[in-house]
Amino acid sequence: METIIEKSRTIVPDPILRDYDDASRTFQWKDAYDRIEWFDDGRLNIAASAVDRHAGSWRKNKVALYWQGNDRARKYTFLELSNLSNQFANVLTDTGIEKGDRVFIFLPRVPELYVSFLGILKTGAIAGTMFAAFGPEGLYDRLHDSGARYLITDSELKKRVYEIKDDLPDLEHIFVIDEIDVADDEISYPEAMKTASRTFDVAKMRPEDPAFMLYTSGTTGKPKGVVHKHLAIVQQHVTTEWVLDLHEDDIYWCTADPGWVTGVSYGMLGPWSCGSSVVVYDGRFDPDAWYGIIERYQVSVWYSAPTAFRMLMRAGEAYKNYDLSTLRHICSVGEPLNAEIVHWGMKAFEMPIHDNYWQTETGGILIANYPSMPVKPGWMGKPIPGISAAIVDGDGNRVPYNTEGDLALTPDFPSMMLAIWKNPAKYAEYFKKGWYLTGDRALQHEDGYFLFIGRADDVILTAGERVGPFEVESALIEHPAIVEAGVIGKPDQLRGEIIKAFVVLAPGYEPSDDLESDIRKFVKTRLAGHAYPREFEFVKTLPKTRSGKIVRRMLRAKELGLPIGDISTLEE
Ligand code: WT7
Repeated sequence: METIIEKSRTIVPDPILRDYDDASRTFQWKDAYDRIEWFDDGRLNIAASAVDRHAGSWRKNKVALYWQGNDRARKYTFLELSNLSNQFANVLTDTGIEKGDRVFIFLPRVPELYVSFLGILKTGAIAGTMFAAFGPEGLYDRLHDSGARYLITDSELKKRVYEIKDDLPDLEHIFVIDEIDVADDEISYPEAMKTASRTFDVAKMRPEDPAFMLYTSGTTGKPKGVVHKHLAIVQQHVTTEWVLDLHEDDIYWCTADPGWVTGVSYGMLGPWSCGSSVVVYDGRFDPDAWYGIIERYQVSVWYSAPTAFRMLMRAGEAYKNYDLSTLRHICSVGEPLNAEIVHWGMKAFEMPIHDNYWQTETGGILIANYPSMPVKPGWMGKPIPGISAAIVDGDGNRVPYNTEGDLALTPDFPSMMLAIWKNPAKYAEYFKKGWYLTGDRALQHEDGYFLFIGRADDVILTAGERVGPFEVESALIEHPAIVEAGVIGKPDQLRGEIIKAFVVLAPGYEPSDDLESDIRKFVKTRLAGHAYPREFEFVKTLPKTRSGKIVRRMLRAKELGLPIGDISTLEE
C-alpha cells in the first residue's frame, strides 16, 4: 500500500478546486471563458490575454520577468514587456508580415526570446520556438517543414542556420539580436527596435486561429509540427491557478526551456496570464546554481521535471546550504515521477512534489495532483475539471479499474492542438471512436487517480524530453560505416530512459573502440545533446518485420531480458 502524503499546509488553492469532486461535476469551459474578459467581440489574442491585460491594469509596474543570465540580471515589468513586444510587432509589420506567417525563434533563454515571442503573436503570425542545442539537422527539419519566413537568432547560433540556409527557400528575413552591422540580407534587432513605436494595434484573432507551434517526435518519420490556437490561453490560465497554484504574491520559476511546450505554456503564457512574476534562469543545470536561484529570487512556486529532481537528489544535502524557506509549492512534469523522489522532496523541501501529466499536443495540463488533494506518490493524479480521461482497449471501450490500457481523452478542451502542420493524415491518426489517444499506457484506480505505465509506441522519454527513435537512427546511418541502426529507450535510474543504439556495420568495417568514438563524434554534430545515444552496441543483424521495418520492441525485450512476445510477423 503506497503512502499518502497530506497536502502542504501553505497551499491556497483556487476556490473551484477546494472541492475537486464538485468542480469536476459542475465545471464547464464556458465558465472559464466568462470568468475573465478574454474576448472582445468574440476575438482574442493570446499575447494580449497574457501580458497586455496586466500592462493596462494596476499590475503594470509589477515585475513580469526576472531574468538571470550567467553574469548579469535584468527585470521587466508587465508594462515594459507589453511595450517591447509592441515594438517588435511594429518591426515585423514594417517588413510586411502577414497573419499566418511562420516566425521561428532560435535563441538561448535571453529576454529577446520572450519579447519576440509575444511580438509575433500580436501580429497574428505563428510563433515557433527552437531549443538552442539544435544542430543544423534539427533546424532544417523545423524551418523547412514549417516554411518559416522569419527567423530570430544571435551571432553565434546563426552559424548553424547558414549551414542549411540554401535549402530553405521560404526563409526571407533573419533578425540578429546582438549585432549592429549585419549582412545585407539580415536585420539588426537592436537597430530596428530603436525607432519602433511602443503602440501597436494587436491583431484580434478568432479563438481557433493558430498562435504558436512546436515540433515533437513520434515513432516514425521526422518531428511533427503541433499547431496551437489562441483559445489555448483559457486552459493554460485555469490550470496555472488550479495546478501550479499561482497567486498574486508568488515568485514562480519554471525550469523548462521555451523550445519545449512546458516552457511556452507554463514558462510564459499561463503564469503571465495570472499576473505572476516569472523567473528565467539562462544557465546550465548545476545544483548550487539552481538552489541559488530559489534563494536569490525567493521563489515560492517551482515547476520542473523528474530527471532534474533526481539530479538534485544525487547532489546529496546541497539544499542545506541555501535558504529555500520561500518555497511553498512544487510541481513536476514530463516523465514518471517515481515515489522515491516525492519522499526525497519531503525531506529536502518539507513538501511533496506534485506530479502532473500532459503532452505537446494537448497544450495544457490534463491530469494532476492538486494542491487541495493528498498526493499519492508515484501516481499522476486526477483529470482537471473539464477533461474526461479514460483507459480504453484497442476498440476504444473503457476497461475496468486497475486494468492497463490506452490513456484516452475526449478532445473537447480549449488547449487541444489545432492541427499537425501540413499533415492531416498524421493528425487523424490520433483519433479513434471519439477518443483522442495519447500514445501512453496507464491505469486508473477506483479512487480516480491515474498511474502511468509507459509509452504505447517506441517514443523515448529521456531526461523529460521526448525523442523519436527514427531521428536518431537517421543520423546514425549517415555515418559511412553504418548500414542499419535500431534505437531504443533503456531504463535508467537518473534519466528515466537513456538512448541505446544498435548498429550494423557496412562490409569492410570491424567493431573497435576507435570506430565507436568516431561514430560518437559524428552523431554529436548532428543531434542535440538530449537525443544523443549514450550506449552503442555493434550487432550483425536487427530484428525486422517481413516488410523490412525494424522491430524496436524486440531489441528492447532482448536488452532487458523480457519476453519477446508475438513474433509471427517477423522476418526470421
Ligand atoms: C509525453 C509527452 C507536456 C509536458 C512535457 C512533455 C510523458 C508527460 C508525464 C508524467 C509520466 C509523462 C508521456 C507523454 N509524460 N508527463 N507526469 N508521468 N509520463 O511533453 O514532450 O510532448 O511528452 O511525456 O509519455 O505522452 P512531450
